[in-house]
Amino acid sequence: MTLKQVGAALLVGGVAAAAAAKAAKARDALGEPESGLARPVDRKRTILVTGAASGIGLNTVRLFLAKGWFVGAFDLDEEALRKALGDRSASSVVLGRVDVCDGDSCKSAVETFLRAAPGGAMDALFNCAGILTIEEFERIPLARQQLIIDVNCKGVINMTLPALPALKEARGCIITMASGSSVAGIPYHVTYAATKAFVYSFTEGLRTELSPQGVRVCDVSVNYVATPMTATQQWSKGSFLVKNNFATASSVAGTVWDALHKATRFNEHFYVDDVTAKTFTIVALSRALGLSYHTKLIAESMQAKI
Ligand SMILES: NC(=O)c1ccc[n+]([C@@H]2O[C@H](COP(=O)([O-])OP(=O)(O)OC[C@H]3O[C@@H](n4cnc5c(N)ncnc54)[C@H](O)[C@@H]3O)[C@@H](O)[C@H]2O)c1
Repeated sequence: MTLKQVGAALLVGGVAAAAAAKAAKARDALGEPESGLARPVDRKRTILVTGAASGIGLNTVRLFLAKGWFVGAFDLDEEALRKALGDRSASSVVLGRVDVCDGDSCKSAVETFLRAAPGGAMDALFNCAGILTIEEFERIPLARQQLIIDVNCKGVINMTLPALPALKEARGCIITMASGSSVAGIPYHVTYAATKAFVYSFTEGLRTELSPQGVRVCDVSVNYVATPMTATQQWSKGSFLVKNNFATASSVAGTVWDALHKATRFNEHFYVDDVTAKTFTIVALSRALGLSYHTKLIAESMQAKI
């Protein structure tokens, strides 16, 4: 980095800090209501989790059950769901099939959840269902590209809309699985990364819209996690990645728990670890300085030819 670039970075940092302080003051003046989770209730807290049969979703279900919550565990793969959670008592969990690509299926999952949940209440919705294919863009068939968009983007809308009335009633929280790829385009993950950028933007827009009504909206980002999703990919497409330690699904579940309790009207993005948080900072800085430093880094790490 040249002296001129260091000076520009310091200037950008100073301006950003001043803008953040001004924005915080302005937001305080809005006097928006606090989240319902800040208020005590005389029933179990409740959460609906999609993608609950595997990986991050399943670990989140287990964590919230251990914390004494009532959990709605929904997944496309009902058999896997029953295998993983079928021994739980009906007073702590309701299991069900949902296809997040299908609006009617999502509506019916929300109805099933609310019928079973204590007080018919929903304190939290965790949009976790998602799919990934690591492959050259051209080699991923059109139907698979479209399915990635349907599950990762439309699925979030399909679940959030029917859950909103109950979430508003409880002044609850919506949490969606984002990714390290929410912040930058990634070779061999082109369509997937674009869907996670959708999540990041969806969270910011909806958070701002629903804050005055006491509903918190946040997302959780992480680079790579050891789950069936990553275990089934062709890692030769990004050899750097196999050399690095993946996060665990239980650490992501822990961040979901933290996000739910720490989300405020000012704070919507949560990162599982420092490496993920740094990814977002480096990309933001690289863009602010008009550099393509982050794309170079990503390309090198993936051994992509540019
Ligand atoms: N594993 C990672 O490295 C990683 C990193 C960042 C973000 N994420 C995100 O975390 C979420 C969970 O990933 P994971 O690693 O636990 O994956 P996973 O493959 O272990 O689990 C995903 C679950 O989603 C379910 N699912 C798929 N399509 C569905 C549909 N149409 N309707 C309902 N359920 C459906 C699957 O049956 C599966 O049980 C995803 O949104 C993913 O994009 C994962």
